[in-house]
Amino acid sequence: MMKTPYYMINQNELDRNFNKMSSALKDNWNNSIIGYSYKTNYLPWIIQHFDNLGCYAEVVSEDEYLLAKRIGAGNRIIYNGPVKTKETFYEALSVGAIVNIDSWREIDWLEECGFKDKSIGIRVNFDIEKMCPGQSQCGDEGGRFGFCYENGELKKAIISIQSKGFHISGIHLHTSSKSRGLDIYKAVSEVACAIQEEFDLELSYVDVGGGFFGGLNNKPQFEEYFALISDVLCRRFSPDNTTLIIEPGMSLIGAPVSYFTTVIDIKSTEKNRFVVTDGSRTGIDPFLKKESYFYSIHKKERTPVIDKQVICGYTCMENDRLFTAFECQELCCGDQIEYEKVGAYTMCLAPMFIKSFPDVYVKNGDTVKSVRNAWGTEEYFMKSILEGNE
Ligand SMILES: Cc1ncc(COP(=O)(O)O)c(C=O)c1O
Repeated sequence: MMKTPYYMINQNELDRNFNKMSSALKDNWNNSIIGYSYKTNYLPWIIQHFDNLGCYAEVVSEDEYLLAKRIGAGNRIIYNGPVKTKETFYEALSVGAIVNIDSWREIDWLEECGFKDKSIGIRVNFDIEKMCPGQSQCGDEGGRFGFCYENGELKKAIISIQSKGFHISGIHLHTSSKSRGLDIYKAVSEVACAIQEEFDLELSYVDVGGGFFGGLNNKPQFEEYFALISDVLCRRFSPDNTTLIIEPGMSLIGAPVSYFTTVIDIKSTEKNRFVVTDGSRTGIDPFLKKESYFYSIHKKERTPVIDKQVICGYTCMENDRLFTAFECQELCCGDQIEYEKVGAYTMCLAPMFIKSFPDVYVKNGDTVKSVRNAWGTEEYFMKSILEGNE
């Protein structure tokens, strides 16, 4: 019996979903790259698995860049983000990784470098809210990444990069949205075409970023996203000359991961019956913002149905309440609750609050193997310096 709490990665589901994405992408644009978004979940087993599946590593910090190097991604790296370090920026360029400039300081860095292959990508900031009202993440406040197309900053940045002898080889248009809807990708692709035309760019890649749904039957499917993107991009690009890059995170690793917890105590008050579990809301929803979770209850034995039970986590926060079960069989100690589709923005975002990182397993058919042992005191003390040894 495995000790809860733990995460379980369903490898068959992960691979099935990946293959679906990969073939839908190839069918619609026969020259493409999938860059797995490290930030979504960079558990070492996961990043290595996506590397084995042929993905590039999409990274946005020195730390993530070094993880990609560590698993042997070589130059199959897409280096994004506004907080690159100068050292890794130069290294990525010198090994031939895909680098997308996201800040003026990086443009300054170009001045000092002496590379032969002088091509680089640039991240575009554009008014997605105007094109898809109500769907963007930042609404009227606008996004903060990349160079703004509408106010002329993008033009200035392009001219500045070109004046340093660099060729703009790609544009990066990742846009986080609330809707993850098809309209977003229509808008992204239209902006890609407009920019190519306006600045007369010869682009070897267009990177539309991530932000797709995946593994949910009632949401847009990969085929729909990529058919639409391809339809629009065809106006100004061809797969013969331009690679389509996508940077999925959530759509690849969200659905195939579950979090298992066990009921460890029951407590009644005048107001409620609290079911205490050894998992926490922080393990599946680190920002404590979601209103509901996918879950299933695995009961040891049948029990009578009762009106209301409040399922709680192990932390001492009052709001560590995961859900309220109405008209449900009475939960008892030893029953398990599995939270499904929790692989994205959980393992790498969950705080070490009250308890350390839990075990992680991978299930492949009937075989279950451990891919991370829970952290304990030793791992927590690692790198700390105690009084007297400072
Ligand atoms: C630049 C970039 N690419 C890809 C992603 C992955 O997005 P998602 O997990 O929604 O697919 C993100 C997420 O914020 C991102 O910032």
